[in-house]
Amino acid sequence: MLSLVTSNEHKYKEISTYLNSKNLEINWLQRKYEEIQADDNDTISLDSSKKLANKINAPFFLEDTGLYITNLAGFPGPYSSYVQSTIGNENILKMASGSKAYFKTVITLCWKKNFYQFSGTLNGKISSAISGNLGFGYDPIFIPDNSNKTMGEMTTVEKNKISHRFIALEKLYLFIVENRIKNNL
Ligand code: IMP
Repeated sequence: MLSLVTSNEHKYKEISTYLNSKNLEINWLQRKYEEIQADDNDTISLDSSKKLANKINAPFFLEDTGLYITNLAGFPGPYSSYVQSTIGNENILKMASGSKAYFKTVITLCWKKNFYQFSGTLNGKISSAISGNLGFGYDPIFIPDNSNKTMGEMTTVEKNKISHRFIALEKLYLFIVENRIKNNL
């Protein structure tokens, strides 16, 4: 069975909801792992996977996500986790309310000791106020393009229809199907 490595239950919920709807069951390896500091999520995601590949003897994937705010020259980007746990959403609003922004997710799949990456982005803007208690992280301050509500006001199913994570996951799923990996998991 394919394993997802994450300590974040919200990510697990979004990812398993999508893949289960495709009849793909996943195993949740609920653990924290080391993340390097780098300029982009691709590098961080790949580095973490390579280190975990020495410890996990089965197919697995993980993902790294960042919020890139245009008026802050792309900050916090790969530092999103640190910024979220230090200054938090209220201070982001003070600095960047109304600015364009995007989320980027990079999934890395480790399959037979090879690494494959799939990315997804979602454009939108930083809201004027914190709104909604669904979702997690920056969801209550991010309004996707063509939406009139924050992602904190969206259910998992609604968010999964448009999100950066969903776009990356769809690519992962297609790769699994096209390479006939599904029957060997
Ligand atoms: P990481 O991918 O776990 O390193 O996440 C980086 C930061 O972005 C963390 O603070 C997460 O809470 C936040 N984050 C990751 N994915 C999302 C999302 O889909 N919506 C809102 N915040 C997110």
